[in-house]
Amino acid sequence: MKFTFPKWYDLHAHFRQDNILTATIQSHLNMACAGILAMPNTKPPVTRVTGENTNQYWTIESYKAELERASNGQFLDIIVPLYLTKDTNAEMIKEGAKSGLLKSCKYSPPHGTTNSEFGAPIKTYMENGVFQAMSDAGVILNIHGEEHGLSGEDYFGENSNAEDYFYKNYVPEIVKQFPNLKIVCEHITTKTAADFVQNAGDNIAATITPQHLLYTVADLLQGLKYHLYCLPLVKFEKDRQALLNAATSGHAKFFAGTDSAPHTTKATECGCAAGCFTGDIAPQLYAESFDLDESNKEAFENFLCLNGPKFYGLSLSDETFTLEKMPQEFPNLKVGNQEIIPLTNGMGRPSLAWSLSKHD
Ligand code: DOR
Ligand code: ZN
Repeated sequence: MKFTFPKWYDLHAHFRQDNILTATIQSHLNMACAGILAMPNTKPPVTRVTGENTNQYWTIESYKAELERASNGQFLDIIVPLYLTKDTNAEMIKEGAKSGLLKSCKYSPPHGTTNSEFGAPIKTYMENGVFQAMSDAGVILNIHGEEHGLSGEDYFGENSNAEDYFYKNYVPEIVKQFPNLKIVCEHITTKTAADFVQNAGDNIAATITPQHLLYTVADLLQGLKYHLYCLPLVKFEKDRQALLNAATSGHAKFFAGTDSAPHTTKATECGCAAGCFTGDIAPQLYAESFDLDESNKEAFENFLCLNGPKFYGLSLSDETFTLEKMPQEFPNLKVGNQEIIPLTNGMGRPSLAWSLSKHD
């Protein structure tokens, strides 16, 4: 079984910096990616739009130029969201949008995940004019929808957890107050979030990762497969089914965003870095999750290749790639004398069910 698709967009991925950036960009090019949305949680984070990088902050202008250099101009488009902090203001948004560099802003729960200690609580931007300015200028909001600081069952239960809380308590309020704001609910993991997005207006969309379509918390816990540890955490079967229904529906508001996140060290003595690395392997994993065949290849193409760029107003690629139901293996990614371990290798299943070939 073999299917050919236009090159796709990964509308949520982490590339970091220095030699990790070069290696991870190459692994995205290898998997026939036409364009990327490169998350701004670098060190220091991307919290300004124009100008040179400093020791305190990076700018969209400079980080984007670096991503373009590392990819040899091979991506059709690169979006770098602005990392929202307490210093972000309405004027910055207005000017940034005018410059053409600012397409979206990223909300990360303060201290909630990797390099996310710079954010302010979501209410800040509802009250200080930032969301209003974004709405006025057509700047998209990328939301990592988790409430930080919950504990016990409130943090992680089947019917109540950090994401569930966020989609019940904040997102409806944001939508009510800013009805024209375009929002991408990033890497959704729960039925609550999937239902919310499904029932919201056309200005509300969502990305879904391959790991959240394929796995549940049982896969993480059985044998403690820590390469599957990412945030938001993989959830329960009812949630995975809701995500799968959303993705395979072909509905324009659901699209690919891998949240591929490279970590050279995952588990340490005091915990585990959050993030699954799916460079080189994401379309193959998405195909596996869809159980790709004749009957759903159109929905698959919508989800992987078309819906995302349409939502962001990006041009579609006229180059193609092929997915074939044939085993394929990948080595770990070497970065200097360290390694980044792709999710499936880390889970002890080096052979993928689908293989990918590019035509360029
Ligand atoms: O698992 C994650 N990894 N979730 C995030 O929100 C951040 C990401 C990273 O940057 O490693
Ligand atoms: Zn992310």
